Formats: sequence, C-alpha cells, structure tokens
Amino acid sequence: MTDDTNSRRDVEPNPHGHGAWQSGFANEFATEALPGALPTGRNSPQRVAYGLYAEQLSGTAFTAPRSHNRRSWLYRIRPAAMHKPFTPLPSHRLVANFHDVPPTPPNQLRWNPLPMPTEPTDFIDGWVTMAGNGSAESMNGCAIHLYAANRSMQDRFFYSADGELLIVPQEGRLHIATELGRLDVGPFEIAVIPRGVRFAVMLPEGTAGSARGYICENFGALLRLPDLGPIGSNGLANPRDFLTPHAAYEDREGNFELVAKLNGQLWRADIGHSPLDVVAWHGNYAPYQYDLRRFNTIGSISYDHPDPSIFLVLHSPSDTPGVDTLDFVIFPPRWLAAEDTFRPPWFHRNVASEFMGLVHGAYDAKAEGFVPGGASLHNCMSGHGPDADTFEKASRSDTSKPHKVSDTMAFMFETRTLIRPTRFALETAQLQADYFECWQGIQKHFTPGQR
Ligand SMILES: [Fe+2]
Repeated sequence: MTDDTNSRRDVEPNPHGHGAWQSGFANEFATEALPGALPTGRNSPQRVAYGLYAEQLSGTAFTAPRSHNRRSWLYRIRPAAMHKPFTPLPSHRLVANFHDVPPTPPNQLRWNPLPMPTEPTDFIDGWVTMAGNGSAESMNGCAIHLYAANRSMQDRFFYSADGELLIVPQEGRLHIATELGRLDVGPFEIAVIPRGVRFAVMLPEGTAGSARGYICENFGALLRLPDLGPIGSNGLANPRDFLTPHAAYEDREGNFELVAKLNGQLWRADIGHSPLDVVAWHGNYAPYQYDLRRFNTIGSISYDHPDPSIFLVLHSPSDTPGVDTLDFVIFPPRWLAAEDTFRPPWFHRNVASEFMGLVHGAYDAKAEGFVPGGASLHNCMSGHGPDADTFEKASRSDTSKPHKVSDTMAFMFETRTLIRPTRFALETAQLQADYFECWQGIQKHFTPGQR
C-alpha cells in the first residue's frame, strides 16, 4: 500500500465535540466519514446512502448473552466477499496448533530480542510464533508471536480468522489502517484488532527498520476488562481510556493482495480494490488502542507484594468462573511502599503459565539478562523469582521509605494451560542457554542456631 494521502479520506473531527476518537471499552459506537452514510432506524435498508453495501461483522455467536454480544454493521463501497480465490502462501514461521510442537521442557526459558530483519520485511512477513496453547481450529487458547519489520505493507492487506490480535509494540510506531478506522500505536501502548478485521500496517517515515514487538493472538473469548471486586468502580484500566477510531476509508483500485490467516496457514488472494473501504459503521466490535501509562496501578500500602492479578489490564475468561484462558498483565512504573516486606515479586511456582516481555527499562525481579524486546517463559510449576543479586539487595534494603520503580514497562501473557514453545523458540540462537545461572548464586543463609 502506498502512502498516498490524496486517495484517503480522513474523517472530519466529530462535529459534536468528541474529538478524534470514540472513547470507552466495547461501547455501541457510531461513526460516519460522510454525512448521512449511517442508516437511521435500521441496519439494512433497501438502499444504503451513497450506493454503499451493508455488511454485518459478528465477533460472537448470534445468540451470545447481550452483555457479551459483539458485532458491528459496516457500510462499505464493496462487500468483503469480493476478491479472487485464495491460494496458500507458504510460511514456516507460524504455528496455530500447539499439540504438534516439540516436548515442552520444565526449564525456565529466556530469549534475547529478535534481530531486526536485513531483507525488506513487512509486518506480516516479520511474524514468528514463539509459543502458545490450544489451537486456532478449536477457538481455544492463544498464540504468542514476535514481529520485527522494516517496511510498510505495500498494496497488501491482512486479516486473521484465528483470533483477535493484541499487539504490544516494543520499538517503533505502527500506523494501523483498519476497515473501521486508523490506529496509531508505539511503545507503552497496545492495539487490539478483532478477529476478521482487515488492516494494513505502515511504519511511519523515518523509522524504517525499527519496528519490533509482541503479538498475542487470542483464539478464545474476546478480551474484556476485569471486574474490580473490592477495588470499587474505578481503577486498573479505566474504560474511558480505550480509544476506538472514527470511520476512515479509502476509495482505491489497483492490483492488491489480501492475505488471510486461517488455522495458522497464510493464504493470499488478488483483490482489485482496497478493502479498507468502510465509509460508516456502528456497533461494539471494533479495533481499539490503549496507553498503558494510563493504567491506575493498585498495590500494597502496608505489607506483602500482592498477587500479580492486581496488575490485570484485559482478560479472556474461560468457561470456569474465575479462571482465565488468557490474562494480559503489566508491571508499570509505580511506588513500592510496603514496609518490612521483601518488595520485589517473591519466589513462586504457579499452576498458571507465564510468558513475559519487556517494552522498556528493567524488570524489578531481574537485575540483568531480561532486556527490552526479549522474553521469558515460566511454565506450570517451574520455580522462578528474583535473581540472586536482586534477592540480596532487596532483602537488605531500607523499607521504611517508599521507593519508586520508574522507567520500566514489563508485561505478561498468563494462561491457565501450558504455554508450549515452538521449535523455532527452542532452537533459535536467541534462547539464553545460561538463564538458569541467575539463580545459581543464591546463598544458603540458613542458621538453625540463630533466628
Ligand atoms: Fe512468575
């Protein structure tokens, strides 16, 4: 796709004063790039204004309870059905069925950042699957990918039928032109593209060669905000900080490519027009972005480090109450004020499995080795926690005064079932063979004769 601004129609700022974005999580949004393009009083009139086609895009079962039902109505220049047949687009870097990966070791695993590509590589070509669970086919579980790209998607559009995409940029900004409007995210922000929504990712001018990050492809129930329980009606990620774009369309014809991801395979089809041709839409199934710096972090102001569920941004619930298929958790800058407490995360083993990434700075449980763009995986019941240096420092530090953990942004994709690394993840040169060493220097302090 070329960045020809003459062929794009930017939506005018909303005349009712709501600015460039529609605010709120999964609201019933309504937006039109041309006045009167949205039908009133019905979804599918006999003839739509401006000669547009009406099309429903559903993200949940038609009969899902109203509180969970997600769908949008799109009014577009041509329906999504209009493209040539798909043919396979070989890719050996993607995995969607985690029953077929090598045996999962109980070792703690950690990786260095993915190197930047040396050949021209766009957002789609730059994906590689690191780990995951379940399968796309069963619509259960997730795939965790890394991306590293150095050029925009050119005359090329993409959608995943396998799941919604939670994109966590670590380096470089992404302009994501979607059917329903345009997102613009960089480090410290996230974007979520619903299953099926077509889009193209452009790297802004001057940053070519520097786009890298993480993608969690959620095969299961749509991500939602957690309930807050005793926290009350505010806190953690506040709904108004989730931003959904206004309608923006392009009326562009040419020899373009539509790439689809279905059951882990990529497919390509010729398409003679831009599929980003939605002039108006309404509904609650739409892409959104969120600035992680807006997260209202809750923590202990007395003693003990709380469970990391206190840092939950979004989750995909399972059929078992209280047990999530996927949690997206962040560790943002925050004050540590707990007194007479070991302040970093404690040593632990969990039934849940944890894939961590680092957007910026350092993580407070690891003094070194876990670098921005890198990743770690601690699977079900694999012991982990602070490294030896961090333990020694934190167990002697002065806890009578608050301490600011600043200049950091770590995150975790946590799942109820085993996170299975792919062959690529287990064989790549980025895997740190010496990760276990960070706990080998832990001293024996046990002194039975002295409390
Ligand atoms: Fe952990």
